[in-house]
Amino acid sequence: MLFNVRSLTSLLLFAGIASAIQNTVYVITNAETPSLSRPGLTPVGQKRATECLPALFSTLNIGKIIMCPENDDSEVCFETLATTQPTATALGLPIDTSCGADENTDDDCVTDLLKKFAKNSTESVLIVWDFQELGALLGEDLDLDTDDADADDGIHFDLVTVVVKNKIKAVVSQNCTDIDGIATGTDAVVPSKRSFSPRGSKLRSLQSREKA
Ligand SMILES: *[C@@H]1O[C@H](CO)[C@@H](O)[C@H](O)[C@H]1NC(C)=O
Ligand SMILES: *[C@@H]1O[C@H](CO)[C@@H](O)[C@H](O)[C@H]1NC(C)=O
Repeated sequence: MLFNVRSLTSLLLFAGIASAIQNTVYVITNAETPSLSRPGLTPVGQKRATECLPALFSTLNIGKIIMCPENDDSEVCFETLATTQPTATALGLPIDTSCGADENTDDDCVTDLLKKFAKNSTESVLIVWDFQELGALLGEDLDLDTDDADADDGIHFDLVTVVVKNKIKAVVSQNCTDIDGIATGTDAVVPSKRSFSPRGSKLRSLQSREKA
């Protein structure tokens, strides 16, 4: 009996390891948006999207781009296309928008796309997601331990989360010289409906800090 339980456990562990894709996955959010959900990218966001990101991802062997699309049912992903299109054009890649960031999309949608791509390719994947939904993407959709990703000190559009073999390997700068950091006029204060981390813990800590 004990033996059976053990072999079942190792079988499950093995399945888990075998299903971890080898491809490097780079996750970014939409670029800078104006305060109070006004539409579009700010001038800094435009610069990030049109100048910095295409140059950055041209060096990272990207073979697939996944982006959450704006749709009538979701209140998110309005600025992902403006953020992603210049990079997709520069790389000559289509943008896969088959997974949304709203509750109508299956939690496994992005993971399934990654697995499908990994069967065919060793190239890296770029994921562009809504800033408000980044925590849910990392913690729930990709099922990653997000402690490290949550440990930074605020709201940043200028980062890349690097995921390797089902682990967050690093959170690094996009190295967009001149526009790094929280830009003037950027929506740096988190409205109450936002949930940055999977379970809202970061949001709560931000709010309590603001109240204190
Ligand atoms: C796998 O590669 C083949 C040949 O390059 C291509 O036709 C096919 O669409 C690819 N499949 C996926 C899931 O990317
Ligand atoms: C940005 O530069 C730092 C320092 O050179 C490097 O560690 C990091 O990987 C770079 N970011 C990206 C996305 O390449």
